[in-house]
Amino acid sequence: MPAFIGGFFVAGEVRDDKISHLFFEKEVRMTNGFKKTVETYKQAKTLAAEYYISPEIFEIERQNIFEKTWYCVGHSSRIPNPGDYYLQEVFGDSLIILRDKEGEVRAHYNVCAHRGTQICPVLPYGLDSKNLERSTLQCRYHGWTYDLKGALIGAGQMKMVPAFEKEENGLTSLPVKIWVGFIFIALSPNPVAFEDLYKPILNKLGDWKIEGLQPFGSADVQVVEANWKLIMLNFNECDHCATIHPTLMKHIDSKSAMNDLSKGPILGGLMKITNGDSLTESGKICGVPLGGHLTLRTVRMGYYYSMLGNFLLNIHPDYVMFHYLTPLSATRTSIETVWLFNPSSFGWAGFRPMEAINVWRKTNHEDWEICEEAQKGISSRGYKPGWYSPSESLLVAFDEEYLKLMSNRKEIGYL
Ligand code: FES
Ligand SMILES: [Fe+2]
Repeated sequence: MPAFIGGFFVAGEVRDDKISHLFFEKEVRMTNGFKKTVETYKQAKTLAAEYYISPEIFEIERQNIFEKTWYCVGHSSRIPNPGDYYLQEVFGDSLIILRDKEGEVRAHYNVCAHRGTQICPVLPYGLDSKNLERSTLQCRYHGWTYDLKGALIGAGQMKMVPAFEKEENGLTSLPVKIWVGFIFIALSPNPVAFEDLYKPILNKLGDWKIEGLQPFGSADVQVVEANWKLIMLNFNECDHCATIHPTLMKHIDSKSAMNDLSKGPILGGLMKITNGDSLTESGKICGVPLGGHLTLRTVRMGYYYSMLGNFLLNIHPDYVMFHYLTPLSATRTSIETVWLFNPSSFGWAGFRPMEAINVWRKTNHEDWEICEEAQKGISSRGYKPGWYSPSESLLVAFDEEYLKLMSNRKEIGYL
């Protein structure tokens, strides 16, 4: 007999009483290459304070990390229709993220090719730009007009200037990659192929069918007074869960963490959900399972992956939570958090998204707060690098990958 959990079919030849942790652990370890977090530990100490406070290092990170990887700027559901756009600040630059008439997502610098004026008004950070139905982008200074692909289509008197070529005066655009619904941009014109850099994760997410998920509500946006790496590091260990997250601890077994990606630009793995079938206040499934039904791989499990540069992904049986970071300075990071559900959930009588969101809002708040306290301590003259513990093996791996990316720039004394 197939198993049903929370009214949903569990795919695979397994009875409900066989979905035991022991069974799953064996299955996962043997067939999917997961290792316990402590098994991949290498002794190491935390980085020197400069890495978390120095504006010079922050600038090198921009060049060596963020220009060499791909950078998440949100979810494509934010601009569902041609002409929809929003503005995204990236390292002090304003970018226009829009959907063109053909439905392609584009990223342009918000800079007019005439005399550099910002084309779309910049709103205070964190306020969502209104989606405006538009078929062109027009600079309000002298009226130069661009199509949504960024090509110049109207430039007043410029036809009287013999050397002026319309084709050479479009907006400056950035490469865009949509991956399972998330919008990634490249901050250099010739990036490494997305598929090469992130190959280890590309075939892992099939069970959840993450493309096509829909957000519930608007994003949570929080400016955190901490270096972006402290947020990535905090995400990659649950040693702190027992002390920092009393609510989350009622739902998960933090000692069960196992990793299938324990080195390179993507790190992460899974953890068991112990209070019911999903990570929700009641422990019940709160949305239609991702992928339409539960599977042995998805049921009662939470998966988490961090991707360099700025993307953090949490996958649960019935919802996804993702964060993308906007590093604002060496000591300040804005974090946007979005919850995504199977679109069928929105018409399902049992849909209770807040049961998931409430647990995570509290947990996220606890995380951002402790990251700020870590930043304060690291900024003190009293700080010295400390030893990572075995359950912090992914943090050692993160630092290792980070230093590898940074290492071809030696002009700063600390590197
Ligand atoms: S600066 Fe934009 S039209 Fe002149
Ligand atoms: Fe945490």
